[in-house]
Amino acid sequence: MSDDQMLRLKPDAAGIATAAAILQAAGLVSFPTETVYGLGADARNDIAVAQIYAAKGRPSFNPLIVHVASLEAAAQYCEFNEVARQLADAFWPGALTLVLPLKAGAGVSKLVTAGLDTVAVRVPDHSVARDLLAAFGGPVAAPSANLSGRISPTSAAHVTAGLEGRIDAVVDGGACTVGVESTIVSCVGAPALLRAGGIPVEALEACLGQPLLRYADPETPTAPGQLASHYAPQGKVRLNAAYANVGEVLLGFGPVDAPLNLSPAGDLTEAAANLFACLHQLDAMNATAIAVSPIPDHGMGRAINDRLRRAAAPRA
Ligand code: TXA
Ligand code: MG
Repeated sequence: MSDDQMLRLKPDAAGIATAAAILQAAGLVSFPTETVYGLGADARNDIAVAQIYAAKGRPSFNPLIVHVASLEAAAQYCEFNEVARQLADAFWPGALTLVLPLKAGAGVSKLVTAGLDTVAVRVPDHSVARDLLAAFGGPVAAPSANLSGRISPTSAAHVTAGLEGRIDAVVDGGACTVGVESTIVSCVGAPALLRAGGIPVEALEACLGQPLLRYADPETPTAPGQLASHYAPQGKVRLNAAYANVGEVLLGFGPVDAPLNLSPAGDLTEAAANLFACLHQLDAMNATAIAVSPIPDHGMGRAINDRLRRAAAPRA
């Protein structure tokens, strides 16, 4: 669907209407969510969904998250059990994705679910995303709007830099407030954490009154050496660095002397919001070696450390 012209749409009524029409015509539209910018296509249309993989240069058919406007809309496509309903009531709209049994005959493309009998769904907490979902009136499959393996976008400029000429349009809704992708919980069987993200696991466990199982997802190998490279800036990344070595640029956290700092005040929520923008900035600076301050591994820190470990993983 894409040609060399990529429309830059305003988040107003006209922009949303144009974006919805592109989705209806099986096109690709990048739109803001509270976590990162998504690359959206009609989740019921095989050809549209196939274009997502082509645009991202994604080598394999990972299952995608289906974005819907409400819990009621989600219930058209998947089965909610008690735990899923509790989490959805507490955290939707928001940065939580639930993996649930797919409803038979729901009409979701097999390219979205990668042929699984489960589907990942979420209701984003962003007015532009919700306006677009309402205008389109259907489910939107959307991975992050970046080339495969590269840094996720938290602004329309990041999307443009990566996908110009490969997609039909981007709706510019400003910077994403959460800054890391949604937390993914499987509610098929005992509830299990599949990916740390924008809702801290502590908050989910407090809501349920029970710990989540920790399954390894396909992108989270068990040994550090096997970690899939992802979210990767051009430069080599060294973690838990007290200071920068010669030739390294320090990405700081807390009160350290660094050219870039995720949060000088040591606030993990602020650090998550700044993470991908800082990695994009390091690329823009042509940083060839990056040292990153230690980040506490609780609350939003878990999602930050997960992304940083993948950024530091050996490149294929
Ligand atoms: O915040 C987010 O979640 C963003 C915004 C755009 O909503 N989206 C996002 O999508 O991060 P993506 O494609 O980068 O990540 C989707 C993740 C993958 O790790 C995939 O394995 C998992 O969701 N997933 C999707 N369907 C699944 C399923 N049926 N079972 C298990 N995991 C699933
Ligand atoms: Mg992604």
